[in-house]
Amino acid sequence: MSGIDSLAQQLGGSLRGKRVLVRSDLNVPLDGSTITDDGRIRASVPTIRSLADAGARVVVVAHLGRPKGAPEDRYSLRPVAARLGELLGAEVAFATDTVGESARSTVDALQSGQVALLENVRFNPGETSKDDAERGAFADQLASLADAFVSDGFGVVHRKQASVYDVAQRLPHAMGNLVATEIDVLRRLTVDPERPYVVVLGGSKVSDKLGVIDNLLGKADKLLIGGGMVFTFLKAQGHEVGKSLLEEDQLDVCRGYLDRAKESGVEILLPTDVVVDTEFPSGDRDPRPVVVPATEIPADSLGLDIGPDSGAAFAAALADARTVFWNGPMGVFEVDAFAEGTRAVAQALTQVSGLSVVGGGDSASAVRKLGFEDSAFGHISTGGGASLEYLEGKELPGIKVLED
Ligand code: 3PG
Repeated sequence: MSGIDSLAQQLGGSLRGKRVLVRSDLNVPLDGSTITDDGRIRASVPTIRSLADAGARVVVVAHLGRPKGAPEDRYSLRPVAARLGELLGAEVAFATDTVGESARSTVDALQSGQVALLENVRFNPGETSKDDAERGAFADQLASLADAFVSDGFGVVHRKQASVYDVAQRLPHAMGNLVATEIDVLRRLTVDPERPYVVVLGGSKVSDKLGVIDNLLGKADKLLIGGGMVFTFLKAQGHEVGKSLLEEDQLDVCRGYLDRAKESGVEILLPTDVVVDTEFPSGDRDPRPVVVPATEIPADSLGLDIGPDSGAAFAAALADARTVFWNGPMGVFEVDAFAEGTRAVAQALTQVSGLSVVGGGDSASAVRKLGFEDSAFGHISTGGGASLEYLEGKELPGIKVLED
């Protein structure tokens, strides 16, 4: 039975006319008020549409960015409401607050099958408060707007926040289709994955990926590492990395990983060549990309992408994979001169015959920016932090609360 059917049962058989609060993750990248990647909005549409089709009065709650508990124009969800309406093919009423007068009158005015979006939930300090009572008090206000709750914001299920966690304790609740699909894919990555199982990790910081590397060293067959985090590994092997991103305090950790990989027979692949420049790309200057061996990064340069040999080697390592998880771009993909490593990995993933998963907001935006269709991959996850925490083996509060 789907989550929505089970919710209808909990409410006496039908959702018709019932106010259903849906937590979605609509945290999309914006350039001013222009949405540059609407992937998360598109991924949220099926659950919202199913609820509307079932006759519910649908109240969507979501966040954008990390405002500090007070309204800020640049984090308003208003442009998102417009895009959601276009995708649904129906008007989405927008409340200019989350639990205030505007929210109440907007919800009251909703008819069966209509959809409203509340303003950024993080404009309220109670949403992200570490204090259970403060968060609970805000969750009470949210819960008073609805008869039931659907959790569909996969990208935030690792956050113990009022609209993700506490509100589920206060209303009849169900898991939305997106969260159910994401969890299903993650289970396939963790419970008896088909082998070879290859994991590609990129992004800027090793410190963001410690838990996941730890856990994957016992599970994956190969670990390919690119992105800014690679320079801490190269330095840990004794190579100079010039002005590249470096986390000095993680050098021992990286050495430990390299040793453990050897002991447990996991192959760690680091790039053998990198694309460097003397400055981080900025709008004021044309990039001057130079390919150098990864072991010979000049003192005045910084690595900004994996090189072409490494791209080819990573693609070869992915060729016979039956399960792949990829999180984090290989370089500064936003700039064409440093996008080829990310493109090579994305291209190789499209050829994988088993399960290929692109995890996380940045990686998902990268593949779309590089012109790949979502359908070229087995699954594009909407949650970077959430999928990494799941793969680390951590309990996700937003999932746990639904199961309790
Ligand atoms: C994300 O962008 O990964 C999710 O929307 C969660 O956002 P957060 O990291 O600010 O909680």
